[in-house]
Amino acid sequence: MLQLTSRDLTRSRVNTLAIPVCKNQDIHDDKPLTAIVGKARSRDEFSGGEDETLILYDLPEVRADRVLFIGLGKIKKLTREKLRNFAAAAVANCIRTGLADLMIVIPAAGKIKIEASLVIEAIQEGACLGNYQFERYKKSRHASLKKIRFYVDAKTAKKNRALPRKVETVCRGTLLAREWVNMAPNDKMPEKLVELITTEAKKTSLSIEVIKARELERKKFGAMLAVAAGSKNKPVLLRLTHTPRRAKKTVALIGKGVTFDAGGINLKPSGSIETMKKDMAGAAAVAATLVTVARLGLNLNVMGVIPMVENMPSGSAYRPGDIITSYSGKTVEVGNTDAEGRLILIDAMTHALIKYHPQIMIDMATLTGACMVALGDKIAGLFTPDNRLADAIHRAGENTGERCWRMPLPEDYKKNLKSDFADLKSVGSKRWGGAITAALFLSEFAGDARWAHIDIAGTAYADKGSVYCGSGGTGFGVRLLCKLLETL
Ligand code: BES
Ligand code: ZN
Ligand code: ZN
Repeated sequence: MLQLTSRDLTRSRVNTLAIPVCKNQDIHDDKPLTAIVGKARSRDEFSGGEDETLILYDLPEVRADRVLFIGLGKIKKLTREKLRNFAAAAVANCIRTGLADLMIVIPAAGKIKIEASLVIEAIQEGACLGNYQFERYKKSRHASLKKIRFYVDAKTAKKNRALPRKVETVCRGTLLAREWVNMAPNDKMPEKLVELITTEAKKTSLSIEVIKARELERKKFGAMLAVAAGSKNKPVLLRLTHTPRRAKKTVALIGKGVTFDAGGINLKPSGSIETMKKDMAGAAAVAATLVTVARLGLNLNVMGVIPMVENMPSGSAYRPGDIITSYSGKTVEVGNTDAEGRLILIDAMTHALIKYHPQIMIDMATLTGACMVALGDKIAGLFTPDNRLADAIHRAGENTGERCWRMPLPEDYKKNLKSDFADLKSVGSKRWGGAITAALFLSEFAGDARWAHIDIAGTAYADKGSVYCGSGGTGFGVRLLCKLLETL
């Protein structure tokens, strides 16, 4: 779907040619391009400022019906994220107009500070992600583009020949996660969602294991079962494993899979409950990452452990005050039934430790509203006692535009989780610092693994769409995890 081309622009026919333009600086060295960018700049309405656009028709210098100029702003402030946005804006324009034949021009190598392969990667990511439309319940007016071409000089094209396929594979992972998150909660109850995921996983080399309610009961997944007790839809634990022959390292990924979080007996109020289908975004990100890792054939063992439940209020629901025995054997006093994510996660973490002895264990979860209060909806909370792992995750996120900010795990806050009756309380005794308390609770179940927790409560879902992600699931975490796993 993504194609690099370096065919002469004066010869190759195209409907829409999209050209990025910086303010006061040329970023192209192809003659016809510099000429038409000059024409665009000579218009009063266009100078290459950020988000400015201009369309010119029938320019004699190129064989394009229309040329779409998009401003990137000052060259000094250019980032990969702005390149993603540029490409997505070009794609959006073509979808909106129903003009499906698009060629995007890549800035000339060496004209901007960002390395050429990273420039191509970012532009192709923006195009691919921006091309997605969620169409399960209604058709879009205009279809997504079937093919997008990217214009680069021949040398750069040759050097980066393998890139388009890789970018596409990784972005497809993000889109898979978006699709699952966007689905309505009545269409993705735990067993159903596991089925949807395994349908995708079966197309890859992943091993798939599904642990159903009966076995969870037999094995005493007490925390997970407690959360599931209020719903007539049974819980499931899904395991996806990628085990290439010569791999040495083992990484376990745990994803919170609450297919709908009503809050349980501590029922969520209107205003907080409507979008709680998103509460399986951690599960979606982990599952989509595993599928992608298999498609890429990464050379390390990756285990995805995904607990799936629905958190509902009912006569059989667990209660605040209940004391449950988790799979680890530790007892937990339930402070609030809406703090269900941490309960299903600890059973999954314990299971991953016993089963795989991973060197690294990372959980991803829409865990706390408090994390959203702290960091907003564009930055995820990163919690880990391991400095090297923190750096690696932070860097991966900087690279993919999925930002994480490290938060503390203060030892002295742990006393807030003390219970008079059980080993631990599930929520802190104090109101403040909820994202930290949740992370500290999880840390009690990380064993000897190098562990990190990423709270994606804010970043997993967009109430309002942006350039390369419409409203709904964002697929946050998939590209980040893939990038991280590549560098471990
Ligand atoms: N799924 C929610 C967290 C959430 C909130 C995700 C907003 C996305 C957007 C989680 O299960 C929850 O309800 N957490 C409670 C914990 C509290 C009861 C200690 C919260 O954050 O209020
Ligand atoms: Zn909850
Ligand atoms: Zn939740």
